[in-house]
Amino acid sequence: MIAQPLTILDHHYLELNNDGEDVIEGLSRNPKALSPKYFYDDPGSLLFEKICELPEYYPTRTEAGILQQYADEIAEITNCCELIELGSGSSTKTQALLDAYQKISDSCRYLPIDVSGGILKDSVLQLQEKYPDFAIHGLLGTYEQALVHLESNYLQSRMLFFLGSSLGNFNPEECDSFLEQVSRTLQSGDYFLLGIDLQKPKDILEPAYNDSQEVTAAFNLNMLSHLNWRFQGNFDPNLFRHQAIYNQVDNQIEMYLHCQKSHWVNLAALDLKVFFEAGESILTEISRKFDLVTMKKQLETKGLKTVKNWTDEKGWFGLILCQVE
Ligand code: AVJ
Repeated sequence: MIAQPLTILDHHYLELNNDGEDVIEGLSRNPKALSPKYFYDDPGSLLFEKICELPEYYPTRTEAGILQQYADEIAEITNCCELIELGSGSSTKTQALLDAYQKISDSCRYLPIDVSGGILKDSVLQLQEKYPDFAIHGLLGTYEQALVHLESNYLQSRMLFFLGSSLGNFNPEECDSFLEQVSRTLQSGDYFLLGIDLQKPKDILEPAYNDSQEVTAAFNLNMLSHLNWRFQGNFDPNLFRHQAIYNQVDNQIEMYLHCQKSHWVNLAALDLKVFFEAGESILTEISRKFDLVTMKKQLETKGLKTVKNWTDEKGWFGLILCQVE
């Protein structure tokens, strides 16, 4: 075993803050909206882990299957590079990739990035034990903050990966500027690995976001508890109800919290008082469903050229490996 020159970065966390401007903006809008990043405090991230195991929630296991099948091929194409993951969560699926890279090199670097500090720290500690030859360095922060940080800290050739179809949380304009930022952050020859959930019938999609155990409902409602502790709020989650519908015009799941009773909510740390009408809703998430061909074209307009793409046998989920021109 060769000692890692970069292990100095192990278990070192970069704290990146958040001021809640987007909460003020979103709750002042009509209809009201909140950013899905507020799902992921520590309890929220644990609920998301539970979602990934639900029988109705096919994306995680479908993508994990594709990764398991093709990780060796991906590693063969890219060779050893710095592995950077946006929204790593528990990094469970990522292990297929880490296993593959471990086979081709004994000196890989892995940078998981997430907004949820607890889960990030736990997974870095676990992974470091399982992959002692990897230099692992967790970054706590949003995608935007992380990309800015990465732009100024360049070590070697990279593969940035964004799995689980988290890209689906962005509306088309946000998606465009995100991909632009990804392309700008990377250098010529670097790789970008993107996992996207593909369009499919409503009767498969809607149950995936309205599971029978109501874990998704708890996950959605937890956003209010998160805002309560983060911004000294007094949301009563019992006054809201979860709903997820598939919008077939825009090809997206829309998750809402419906207010059941008129009331005021106060977020003291933001100096914000908001009135909620009975029947009014907060849009907490969109989860867009993509078309593989269209996505490859869009990536190409950002200078991200598809090297290869894979799907499962049902064609439910897609994985695209592209390279910066
Ligand atoms: C993590 C954004 C990919 O959109 O499917 C799961 C989040 N929301 N169930 C998704 C989510 C409700 C998930 N992403």
